[in-house]
Amino acid sequence: MGEIWMIGATGRAGRNISAELQADRHRIVLVGRNGQRLAEAAAAIAALGGPPPRTLVTDDPLAQIATGRPDVVVNTVGPFGATTVPTAHACVAAGSHYVDLANEFQPVQSLLGLDPAARTAGSTLVTGAGFGTLATEALVSELCAGRPSPIRVRVAAMPVVDGLGPAVLASVVDAAATGGLVYRDGRLTRSRLGAHLQHTPLPDGTMRATVAVPTGELEAALNASGAGDVIATSSEVPTGRIARVALPIVGAVLRVEAVRRTVIRLIDRWQLTPPATPGEVSWAYASTEWEGGETRQAWLQAGEGYAFTSRVAAMVATRLADGDARPGAFTPGALFGADLARSAGATITLDSNAKDLR
Ligand SMILES: NC(=O)c1ccc[n+]([C@@H]2O[C@H](COP(=O)([O-])OP(=O)(O)OC[C@H]3O[C@@H](n4cnc5c(N)ncnc54)[C@H](OP(=O)(O)O)[C@@H]3O)[C@@H](O)[C@H]2O)c1
Repeated sequence: MGEIWMIGATGRAGRNISAELQADRHRIVLVGRNGQRLAEAAAAIAALGGPPPRTLVTDDPLAQIATGRPDVVVNTVGPFGATTVPTAHACVAAGSHYVDLANEFQPVQSLLGLDPAARTAGSTLVTGAGFGTLATEALVSELCAGRPSPIRVRVAAMPVVDGLGPAVLASVVDAAATGGLVYRDGRLTRSRLGAHLQHTPLPDGTMRATVAVPTGELEAALNASGAGDVIATSSEVPTGRIARVALPIVGAVLRVEAVRRTVIRLIDRWQLTPPATPGEVSWAYASTEWEGGETRQAWLQAGEGYAFTSRVAAMVATRLADGDARPGAFTPGALFGADLARSAGATITLDSNAKDLR
């Protein structure tokens, strides 16, 4: 069984994934820049039973990867625009496998571009190993399995979490700065941030408002379907009329590097209140339309978003550590299929009699 390094081990996701891996008796190394926070995280993991995890205090995890050559590196340090590509490069150079939780469009697309280098090195790189991108990607691959490519795909992510780390908002800031993106006729096309308001149907007949945001789910849905027109929407940004008018302005302001860095620094100090209410669950949705008008739709239901994400990331890291993956760069559904989402506790419902899905 290989050694798994957890970068960002003191954060919410890092701790949860480490706990999952510890429960499975994996050899984990908690990596971080703050010795005291790292020791607290290690004590919490050790309290779960099994040998206490090793800790590695460092300001330069990439140099440590080069010398330590771990079997698998799990990167939970967002925003991933700054960490995905350099960390994945370090893994490829060291012959390590790589997993991250990115769901911002740019890092996910860039990571997938490292496929040739990863194949040559024999490394497996997996980006988006969480609710985003797996939840919507799993639905698209189920809807398209064994069929020709649809002409149109829409996905909607509607996660519910019982608390947020500051890095999550920083990732949203980075995504907003990217501006709106959709695929039209197979080409990546700019759209207004916050456009494409959709009332996404849930199986119980209720609707949830979502708007287009440039997530990794957009790229994953394109690759899983081969469709020309792809839109990814989310309930994670405000969908009210005023918010939708303001979003493009906010996005433009955030494109100024100095402003973005200041906002991200301020976010680090915010105390975030838990947004979930008891009984709420996470949903994902996908609809597909083929030439001739045939349409299908599907839903994925998962529990709390962080718990699902932690199981997904831990399962991916475990399979890579066990040598159960081919070399290359992937989103999780492309590598392990929709069953990965089921194994992480999600249920998927398909409806092949959908009428108007636009
Ligand atoms: N794809 C998904 O579905 C999904 C789900 C959940 C989370 N996420 C993403 O995962 C990321 C982490 O989320 P989280 O809730 O765990 O965040 P968090 O609680 O704020 O934790 C962030 C971690 O990153 C470390 N870190 C931050 N800046 C760093 C830097 N400059 N250098 C080194 N380490 C740094 C922090 O270490 P210190 O203790 O030293 O500050 C901490 O360990 C976010 O970007 C979030 O959007 C994605």
